[in-house]
Amino acid sequence: MRIAAVCGSLREESNTNKLVRIVAEAAGCECDFIELGGLNIKPCTGCAACMMNEGACPIDDDMQAVYEKLLAADGFIIGGPTYFMDINGAVKDFIDRTMAVKYRDIGPAYSADMPWLGTVPFNGKPAVLLVTVAGGGHERALETLKVAFDDCHRMRIVEKLAEIVGMNDVNDLPQALERARAAGKKLAAALQS
Ligand SMILES: Cc1cc2nc3c(=O)[nH]c(=O)nc-3n(C[C@H](O)[C@H](O)[C@H](O)COP(=O)(O)O)c2cc1C
Repeated sequence: MRIAAVCGSLREESNTNKLVRIVAEAAGCECDFIELGGLNIKPCTGCAACMMNEGACPIDDDMQAVYEKLLAADGFIIGGPTYFMDINGAVKDFIDRTMAVKYRDIGPAYSADMPWLGTVPFNGKPAVLLVTVAGGGHERALETLKVAFDDCHRMRIVEKLAEIVGMNDVNDLPQALERARAAGKKLAAALQS
């Protein structure tokens, strides 16, 4: 079993990315870490070329390698910080670029009535969604991840975490660390079922 884990904060010493790593460690399987801070992932231009060309995105950047990692994964961890009461821009750009995987004809159709919406290659694959926030606005950030990965990509969400960290280092918040470990164990159990 293999998971792909999106570390969605671009900040060094990021609390989000620390928590993603703790979830992955507790899951105990091989993990491809997708550190958005170290990658060149441009925004989707909406050209629709992926829809016409079997999911091939014409943007020549690091997302090309990320597509292969995502499609090879049996499960997922997606983490991002809350910016202006929603998910941060880097994670949103990543989400938009995942549109292309829907046109590779992998997995069941998204909708029998609307074939132009492609397929759902991540259908039923277990996932943990995770956001951090200083004080408030995490509800909408988590909802954005839920809409993308549950409603649109149809992953099976086994845990949703929203950690209010204030100005702290998450390593000083034992309950948050424990929730992350528990989420990793849930992910491991879901991968076996
Ligand atoms: C541009 C920006 C916008 C932010 N917006 C909010 C916000 O709406 N609500 C809030 O409580 N914290 C906000 N924060 C604080 C971050 O959500 C918080 O520090 C988060 O845990 C950072 O995650 P990281 O350590 O993984 O980078 C914002 C921070 C930045 C840089």
